[in-house]
Amino acid sequence: MEVVIKRDYDQMSKAAAQLVVDVLNTKPNAVLGMATGSTPLGLYQELVRLHQAGQVDFSRVTTFNLDEYVGLPANHPQSYHYFMDEHFFRHVNIPRHNINIPSGTTSNYPAFCQWYEGRIAECGGIDLQILGIGSDGHIAFNEPGSSLSSRTRLKTLSKQTIDDNARFFERREDVPVYAITMGVGTILDARKLVLVASGKTKAKAIAQAVEGPVTSMVTASALQLHRDATVIVDADAAAGLTMRDYYEFIYAAKPAAPKS
Ligand code: GLP
Repeated sequence: MEVVIKRDYDQMSKAAAQLVVDVLNTKPNAVLGMATGSTPLGLYQELVRLHQAGQVDFSRVTTFNLDEYVGLPANHPQSYHYFMDEHFFRHVNIPRHNINIPSGTTSNYPAFCQWYEGRIAECGGIDLQILGIGSDGHIAFNEPGSSLSSRTRLKTLSKQTIDDNARFFERREDVPVYAITMGVGTILDARKLVLVASGKTKAKAIAQAVEGPVTSMVTASALQLHRDATVIVDADAAAGLTMRDYYEFIYAAKPAAPKS
């Protein structure tokens, strides 16, 4: 796992956006895995900026989102469908039919989850998966205790996640209790993983994910099993890492990527 420590949120977002651009430069029809949450907002803003400046083209890209709340229709302002449209899709040129987001309103969840997995495979698998991290160390909605080989399925949210996400809803009771989420196994199948984390509230989860044991209690620790995972954090989120100097030393010694 590569750990990249940036001084602030802006630098973290730009470094993550650059990794997406690098993949698109070598594979313009790449399949991107998208994440929601406040953390990737800066990364999406940077990609939109680069697109508007004519530096990145999404016309051949396909996307798969990690997760969606159960019970929220696509036009609900707190749905992940709405979030993605608002912050990314409507600003770039990904063909609508290439955008895939789990349905929060299907009448048959098991069938939908199986279809979603099949659709990812049909598209050739995910080239780069963007990830955030929950304060309890989850990726997507793979709450503590999720099998590290889990696939897309319905998941009950933890109390911690409901508390964390209550800030987006009028009342805590409005936060959906269930979500449909790619599994940890689905995520590990992506060819490249990029996890972004910012702020003190993520420091413990990042330390556990990067330097703790691989455990289903911190599903982000599964990134340790992946051969091409990059964790990009700002200084606050890096605060609990004991090997910080070592990561900075490796990063500083890394040769610059060749420009295409
Ligand atoms: C939700 C999402 C995750 C995201 C997490 C953290 O649980 N399902 O994909 O990583 O929130 O969100 P934030 O970046 O807002 O802290």
